[in-house]
Amino acid sequence: MAKRKVTVVGAGNVGGTTAQRLAERNYADVVLVDIVEGLPQGKALDILESGPILGYDSSVTGANDYEQTAGSDVVVITSGSPRKPGMSRDDLLKTNQNIVASVTGEIVRHSPETILVVVANPLDAMCHVAMETSGFPRERVVGMAGILDTARYRTFIADELGVSVRDVFALVLGGHGDTMVPLPSMATVGGVAITELLYEDRVEAIVDRTRNGGAEIVNLLKTSAWYAPGAAAVEMVEAILKDKRKILPCAVFLQGEYGYNDLFVGVPVKLGKNGLEQIIQIELTEDEAAALKHSADAVKELVDKLKTAA
Ligand SMILES: NC(=O)c1ccc[n+]([C@@H]2O[C@H](COP(=O)([O-])OP(=O)(O)OC[C@H]3O[C@@H](n4cnc5c(N)ncnc54)[C@H](O)[C@@H]3O)[C@@H](O)[C@H]2O)c1
Repeated sequence: MAKRKVTVVGAGNVGGTTAQRLAERNYADVVLVDIVEGLPQGKALDILESGPILGYDSSVTGANDYEQTAGSDVVVITSGSPRKPGMSRDDLLKTNQNIVASVTGEIVRHSPETILVVVANPLDAMCHVAMETSGFPRERVVGMAGILDTARYRTFIADELGVSVRDVFALVLGGHGDTMVPLPSMATVGGVAITELLYEDRVEAIVDRTRNGGAEIVNLLKTSAWYAPGAAAVEMVEAILKDKRKILPCAVFLQGEYGYNDLFVGVPVKLGKNGLEQIIQIELTEDEAAALKHSADAVKELVDKLKTAA
């Protein structure tokens, strides 16, 4: 049986890692696209040549155009500038708006039935660009941020308590920016709330480190992260391709859920073969609801700027 097809647009750090991790899973053929000549072809060949050693036989090809992407089941959009030290994700708005719009147009022309997983920043605003350009229903445009932010949150909790990250469940809601909302009430270790296990000041420190988790890496690397972002994008692709119906925090277009309308905000959703299968509504405390509002307001402000940006 032919493997499914996944296109990764942008063969930079996040795109290259996403393509590599996908090829290694061995259930999808991967097409890597970039505007830089030789870059997607070179990375694709290098990933392909790892197959005999690692035991996978996914096809991996690179291209500067979209011919080979035709009929993709899922397309991951990582094309766009990453931030540098001192920059916020929002500083990337204008540059990446143009890139994401042109890329989405090409993708839709070649794969009108595909599901878009948006990764480029500022994430929530780029989801709006992809949805508007594609004209896709909200089920087929989902943004990757919450899985990454939650992975950071879980890492810091596990580290603080000296436990396996596998025993830590947590959730981060809201936009993918400094206003994101790591929920202490939903963070548990082996089923026990972290608020029972840690003093309030430690919980606050972990929440704060999570909010600034991206900047912490930018300060070290002088560019943004890619290993965990690539892993997070693949988790979404896998949930869709394998119809896993996993509950994952993703940026989706809310239409009344959580009290927001026509806005991409990170919330827990069920991801399956149709993309967004269901939005999971959870009870928030008053403080959490206020923090989510603050975050949604920040997304809205940025989305409004899209109309003037060009
Ligand atoms: N959502 C998240 O959680 C998250 C996490 C990490 C990074 N990001 C974002 O992902 C994006 C990519 O980050 P990166 O570290 O891989 O950057 P990078 O600079 O390493 O790679 C970006 C690639 O996009 C390519 N590109 C630019 N314009 C293009 C176009 N029109 N068509 C095709 N390719 C094009 C560039 O040539 C480059 O190779 C950035 O916007 C970054 O902020 C998001």
